Amino acid sequence: MKSSTGVALLTSLLLAASALACGSTPASEAASAAPVESGAADEAAEASDEGAADSPVVAAEQEDGEPDVEYTLITGGEYGSLIFVGVGGEIDGEINPTLTAQPGDVVKITLVNGDGILHDVTLDEFDARTEQFSEKDAQQEIVFQVEEDGEYVYYCSVPGHREAGMLGTLQVGESPALATEGEMIVHSPMDLPEPVGARAPELVRIDLTAVELEGQLADGTTFQYFTFNGTVPGPMMRVRVGDTVELHLVNDDGSQFQHSIDLHAVTGPGGGAVLTRTDPGDETVFTFKTLNPGLFVYHCATPSVAHHIANGMYGLILVEPEGGLPPIDHEFYVMQGEIYTEQPFGTQGLLDFSGEALLDESPEYFVFNGAAGALTTDDFVMQAEVGDTVRVFFGVGGPNFTSSFHVIGEIFDRVYDQASLTAAPLTDVQTTTVAPGGATMVEFTVDVPGTYILVDHALSRLERGLVGFLQVAGDENPDVYREGGAE
Ligand code: CU
Ligand code: CU
Repeated sequence: MKSSTGVALLTSLLLAASALACGSTPASEAASAAPVESGAADEAAEASDEGAADSPVVAAEQEDGEPDVEYTLITGGEYGSLIFVGVGGEIDGEINPTLTAQPGDVVKITLVNGDGILHDVTLDEFDARTEQFSEKDAQQEIVFQVEEDGEYVYYCSVPGHREAGMLGTLQVGESPALATEGEMIVHSPMDLPEPVGARAPELVRIDLTAVELEGQLADGTTFQYFTFNGTVPGPMMRVRVGDTVELHLVNDDGSQFQHSIDLHAVTGPGGGAVLTRTDPGDETVFTFKTLNPGLFVYHCATPSVAHHIANGMYGLILVEPEGGLPPIDHEFYVMQGEIYTEQPFGTQGLLDFSGEALLDESPEYFVFNGAAGALTTDDFVMQAEVGDTVRVFFGVGGPNFTSSFHVIGEIFDRVYDQASLTAAPLTDVQTTTVAPGGATMVEFTVDVPGTYILVDHALSRLERGLVGFLQVAGDENPDVYREGGAE
């Protein structure tokens, strides 16, 4: 994984999202366009590794004013998406291809209008911009000289088009080669314990280990995470009301910080934090009785608490009510968090935690299950079949931002508001509010095949990595959803 930029990452996400919104892209293809373990990014990396010298689109002759490098882009895609597609040479057929040049090169970009919609291509750093034009098959050129090594964005400046996916990278000179690879810290949304069912209360032992590690935050980008058991969120715990829980917390001997745990399911000072201040290499134990059913957040409570939470130390504990939860076809475990870094979103390499950004509540990344776009990648896409019932245990680790949790293309049949499992659920809800240190349980039936996109409807956060996919397979259901007019 290398030489993918934040721009490329954002583009992949938006492309994946917009293509999938049309329901036309096969699952694996869309998933591989996402940043973590990204096939698309690898392709882009390969393309840029070729360098301008090997590219068949390099002009053969170099006279005064003659371009050293020429590229042609056409607007619009197979799916009618707002994208650029490469024409000819190495970039032929590539979506938002990475263009390459060497310092000093004169670059010529020809833009062909492929969809009859108003577009241009713009590169701010070079003051290079075609006219905006909408005539299908018409074309416009820009010619400009590049000087400095770097990665520059080309995009369409028609309002909304850049955001919708019309952007790519012009790579001048060598790739910065800062990209890093770290441990996979994403907790799979499919990895959660079996239902408790109708059993009697019992003694349950839970073992947790606090582990600090350099994990993969995005493609080519790592971050020093604090975790429970090596993943974000930590493991989902599942007990029933009336159980006695003996909780063991080990702090890995490689840790630099003390860690602890506060479970919102606990009745007692600090929710356990006072009893579990654990130094590196040590273990603490405490025991609590679950007095209240519900879905509760747990997190590290070692000062600075916000720092430890932001770096990944949170999870959910489900305390099932007497008799258990109603049966359901699929259960998923998703948590939202923020990552505060000194470097801007999209920077390659190992990013530094920023205490200042944390106090300003100004995160660079928003993440589901720990990493940017993680739940859009092959291993972590949620799956269901038409007619299935789906339950999502959704919590916000935060530490600071309230989530407006929404699934694009679905309506929650039931929302267990504030994660209360004893009050009657709300029914027929579009978007639900989940506070930091809070949770919700939502349930819905999937009636139409395609890809549904989990978001916080504060959608700027999607552009900082906050997105997940639920893929639904099965037969079309034209009574509910179809193209074209009513019969
Ligand atoms: Cu901690
Ligand atoms: Cu919406």
